[in-house]
Amino acid sequence: MRGRGLCPYLSLLETDPLRDRGLRKGFFSPAPPPSAASSRGPFRRAPLGLHLFLRENGLVRPAKVRSRRRLAPGYFLLEIEAPEAAPRARPGQFVRLKAWPGYDPLLPRPFSIHARSEKTLSFLIQERGRATAVLSRLRPGEEVWWDGPLGHPFPLPERGEVWLVAGGVGLAPFFFYLETLRARGLSARLFYGARTRGDLVRLSALERLCPVQVATEDGSRGRPGLVTDLLREALKKGSPEFILACGPPGMLAAVGHLGERAGVPVYLSLEAMMACGRGLCLGCAVSRKGGGYLKVCVEGPVFPAEEVDLDRLG
Ligand SMILES: Cc1cc2nc3c(=O)[nH]c(=O)nc-3n(C[C@H](O)[C@H](O)[C@H](O)COP(=O)(O)OP(=O)(O)OC[C@H]3O[C@@H](n4cnc5c(N)ncnc54)[C@H](O)[C@@H]3O)c2cc1C
Ligand code: FES
Repeated sequence: MRGRGLCPYLSLLETDPLRDRGLRKGFFSPAPPPSAASSRGPFRRAPLGLHLFLRENGLVRPAKVRSRRRLAPGYFLLEIEAPEAAPRARPGQFVRLKAWPGYDPLLPRPFSIHARSEKTLSFLIQERGRATAVLSRLRPGEEVWWDGPLGHPFPLPERGEVWLVAGGVGLAPFFFYLETLRARGLSARLFYGARTRGDLVRLSALERLCPVQVATEDGSRGRPGLVTDLLREALKKGSPEFILACGPPGMLAAVGHLGERAGVPVYLSLEAMMACGRGLCLGCAVSRKGGGYLKVCVEGPVFPAEEVDLDRLG
């Protein structure tokens, strides 16, 4: 899902005219093959040094990679040493990471906090493009720059059960949340959906924390179909104190509608492209129900579903 506000400007921020003309080859970063971005004519813009600004102002800090472990093709766990951030981290919050020299890609990328120890933070990452490819090759001892923890955490229940709905890598923030619930003696149930069994990660670790029901679109594991089918059936038999959902926009909208029909509060963890991460650029804006926008970086990423325009997600 994409932010709507100034989202088109994000791609301009990531365009480098010197590189596009081959003048920056091998200086800040290797020149990639010409792309659609190089045909933007007068609208091409040089990087604005946003990361440099954040770094100079102490908002982005260096850390060492503690470990990097491949979980399945296209998925890995990255653990960084961040003793200043780890004690402050709450489940549902995210951190922005950058681990490449120069400004290509320009922007740090946001990742949910998957787990934490006293001095480290871990991220469950799916390889999607250039930034996640760089992160997937990091080795212990190498440097990564981080900014966070950012955003609002997931709510905690008073006493009842919470149902979690995860689609694909939307699972990422729920591991930390489940550990937090368990430490407080609270219970949860996880509905976990993916395209195929190869996209299901950390299943046995999750099953140690709560009951897990799985759905795959190709039927290779668990119930064939969508994770929302599992939720629909479960809601016919009972209801939790509230539902948390994280995953692709279509799934989030479906969960929001199911919760509304069943009279169960739903909170959605939204994804959006981010530039400043500080509420300044509107790059992460998504449509608010009834008009206006919600800023995912500072007002989210967790929102009550009733505040989000579900029909304009994705
Ligand atoms: C609050 C928040 C938490 C996130 N947590 C996680 C996490 O825990 N694990 C994880 O793997 N990813 C997470 N993401 C998404 C992650 O930020 C993107 O995968 C990453 O920015 C991709 O960077 P890239 O340079 O590798 O890919 P790009 O080259 O930027 O993009 C590659 C492809 O992925 C698509 N894409 C890029 N970013 C997103 C996005 N945010 N949503 C949907 N599609 C996107 C692009 O359209 C493109 O098709 C989170 C995003 C947000 C906003
Ligand atoms: S990323 Fe700039 S306002 Fe959210």
